[in-house]
Amino acid sequence: MAWLLNSCESNTYEEVAGVVEFPTYQANVKKIMDDKCNSCHNPDYGQEPYLQTYELVKDACENGELLCRIDGSCGAIMPTSGKMPKARVDIIQNWALQGYVEQ
Ligand code: HEC
Repeated sequence: MAWLLNSCESNTYEEVAGVVEFPTYQANVKKIMDDKCNSCHNPDYGQEPYLQTYELVKDACENGELLCRIDGSCGAIMPTSGKMPKARVDIIQNWALQGYVEQ
């Protein structure tokens, strides 16, 4: 089963270090959005929700489907290329659970 661990994703900091227990937008979440979501979810490309700022990402979690799209519990999985490593999904979920710390 080891091949599964190496498929699809490069070795990012999160995968190597595991989940971040107390993530913040600036330190952790923004990087994931830029890396995995913002190529489509921006005003030029035109796919909402736009995810370029703290307020936009927080709103997409609180009032949209962001949290259930990244773990596949609603709609089509995001990003469309396939589910992110669990550590990255957990970082965003921890961030939401802890009240969306910005800095
Ligand atoms: C390759 C382009 C692409 C990437 C990258 C991508 N998305 Fe999407 N996303 C779409 C498209 C197209 C839709 C509309 C179809 C659908 O709802 O499944 C969508 C829909 C969504 C929706 C639902 C929108 C609504 O109106 O309810 C959310 C939330 C979402 N994406 C979040 C994300 C997040 C978070 C990421 C990164 C982890 C991401 N997406 C990465 C293309 C993308």
